[in-house]
Amino acid sequence: MTEPPSDFDIELRLLLEAIYLKYCYDFRSYSVASLRRRVEQALEKFGCRTLSQLQDRVLHEPSVMPALLQYLTVPVSEMFRDPEYFLGLRREVIPRLLTYPSIRVWVAGCSTGEEVYSIAILLQEEGLLSRTTIYATDINPEALRAAEAGVYPIDRVAGFSESYRKSGGRGSLSDYYTAGYGAVVFDRALRARAAFSDHSLATDGVFAEVQLVSCRNVLIYFDRDLQDRAVGLFRDALVRRGFLGLGNRESLRFSKHADAFTELLPEVRIYQRCS
Ligand SMILES: C[S@@+](CC[C@H](N)C(=O)[O-])C[C@H]1O[C@@H](n2cnc3c(N)ncnc32)[C@H](O)[C@@H]1O
Repeated sequence: MTEPPSDFDIELRLLLEAIYLKYCYDFRSYSVASLRRRVEQALEKFGCRTLSQLQDRVLHEPSVMPALLQYLTVPVSEMFRDPEYFLGLRREVIPRLLTYPSIRVWVAGCSTGEEVYSIAILLQEEGLLSRTTIYATDINPEALRAAEAGVYPIDRVAGFSESYRKSGGRGSLSDYYTAGYGAVVFDRALRARAAFSDHSLATDGVFAEVQLVSCRNVLIYFDRDLQDRAVGLFRDALVRRGFLGLGNRESLRFSKHADAFTELLPEVRIYQRCS
């Protein structure tokens, strides 16, 4: 006999349905374990005793949904996060992109932009940035605004620089930003090659043909069906022999689209589309 759902689970489903119906953000196929943690934090922040109370506020107070989105979407990122991944891109993927007259890269779930600037710097150092367009997408408008601004607190930069060095960086990270007033701003030339826009892997379709998709630390928040949907979008967006990079806790092993890819650098989760 299956256990009846708990009150929390019932209220969570109702909350996600309400958010979808009112705001079109579709969290209904996210992994319950990670949603549970995040809504518990949100309950505390909003001073609500139950999810039903939070649902009432989400529906009736316009300022609540944008704030709740910061909990539900986990907008955290770092530059050159897992430097071996970027070293893999630099050594094995970028040289294979050299033959294309124009290059399109999709950074899906780009959050506040650190991954976008990391890839832009790699492409710049390998001489490809001037013929590349980077589509940087996310569902969190506040994160997208931060990504487009390219401004980060200066106290994060030492960590970014260390990872840049480990990723095979050819110069110094300071070549790419200007510092002032406790922050750094990344060069306009890096940003100029990027188009930042709203796109949901849960509800939207493919919008461009690309040679590289980098989607790191996003699929971990999805249930199996939504992971399959997202990987299906990546497969459809990629040219034949195009590349897909995932986060270090993600893999294609259980994906229904696994056969469409070969493992190029499995230790850093870089795949190549084969069919
Ligand atoms: C943990 S961050 C990952 C940031 C970056 N990719 C990295 O690895 O550093 C996860 C991002 O996925 C975004 N996200 C969540 N659901 C999404 C969806 N359905 N479609 C696109 N992005 C989504 C969130 O808004 C958040 O910015």
